[in-house]
Amino acid sequence: MLEEMPRIQWFPGHMKKTERLIKDHLSQVDAVVEIRDARIPYSSGNPLLKKMIQHKPQIVLLNKSDLSDPEANQRWISYFKEKSIPALLVNGKTGEGLSQVIPAIDRALQKRREQRESRGMTGTFARVMAVGIPNVGKSTFINAMSGGKPAQVENRPGVTRDKQWVRIGNQMDLLDMPGVLWPKFETPLQGLHLAYTGAIKEDVFDIEEVAAWLLKDLAKIYPSALEKRYHLHLNETENPYEMLEALGKNRGMRVRGGEIDTERASRLLMKEFQSGMLGRITLENPPNFEKRDNHDAL
Ligand code: G4P
Repeated sequence: MLEEMPRIQWFPGHMKKTERLIKDHLSQVDAVVEIRDARIPYSSGNPLLKKMIQHKPQIVLLNKSDLSDPEANQRWISYFKEKSIPALLVNGKTGEGLSQVIPAIDRALQKRREQRESRGMTGTFARVMAVGIPNVGKSTFINAMSGGKPAQVENRPGVTRDKQWVRIGNQMDLLDMPGVLWPKFETPLQGLHLAYTGAIKEDVFDIEEVAAWLLKDLAKIYPSALEKRYHLHLNETENPYEMLEALGKNRGMRVRGGEIDTERASRLLMKEFQSGMLGRITLENPPNFEKRDNHDAL
């Protein structure tokens, strides 16, 4: 049963190395672009980043905004506005919203430019670091911004000639930092949200357990999505494992002997959720949102 929320454990990979890389390269950049997943803007953010980047301007891109709920998108934009953090809704895949990225970086760097001008220096060239957790769409974003051109950066003092630097038009160099997850979640729900959206790979969790929790959460916050796609009417008191069976049965997923293949049903649910086939869904609301729901634990 689903009494206790699973605590997803994973190996944080090159977390320490990435943290060091970010710290080491901060002095070379003017601003940081943080790419988040618009379906989980809270859990896809890096809690250490704010501390690390200190007073460097930060721009948040809510990517995959085509997969997230349009109303929730607006709520998150208002939230970041209140916090005076420039934030944009983007879709790296189609390029939607990307034309706003350079102007937003420009605005964030306005003060620095004025200071430079007052010292007689000109030029609007910006060096920007791109960070984000795995699978958030960072590579897609960088490719779209650079027009898919291979990394090419001229040799300038203070700039490492490194394949991680990508030239964007004639105004900006982007430094691509490796995508990495942070080692500690504030709540188990964060781990689940990262698993639902594909940021944490399937080999470190029990797919049926996570799929059952996804069903339970969707039944709570987007019941119509389950009704429409799978004809499932799941309320919170029903057993999500039985619903997984019903889903598998509806799709004719049986193993030898006639039993329902709930593992296949779980994979189908996760894949369809991740690719937006269940509709546009946001799992987290901003902390100040008055209608509390699934986001309560965050
Ligand atoms: P990463 O570098 O941050 O790890 O992520 P990457 O760009 O590889 O993107 C991860 C997946 O997310 C890719 O799908 C990519 O196409 C998709 N993606 C990126 N940005 C967006 C977006 O704004 N909207 C939507 N809907 N999807 C986006 P994939 O299935 O792994 O690859 P592919 O089959 O699309 O090539």
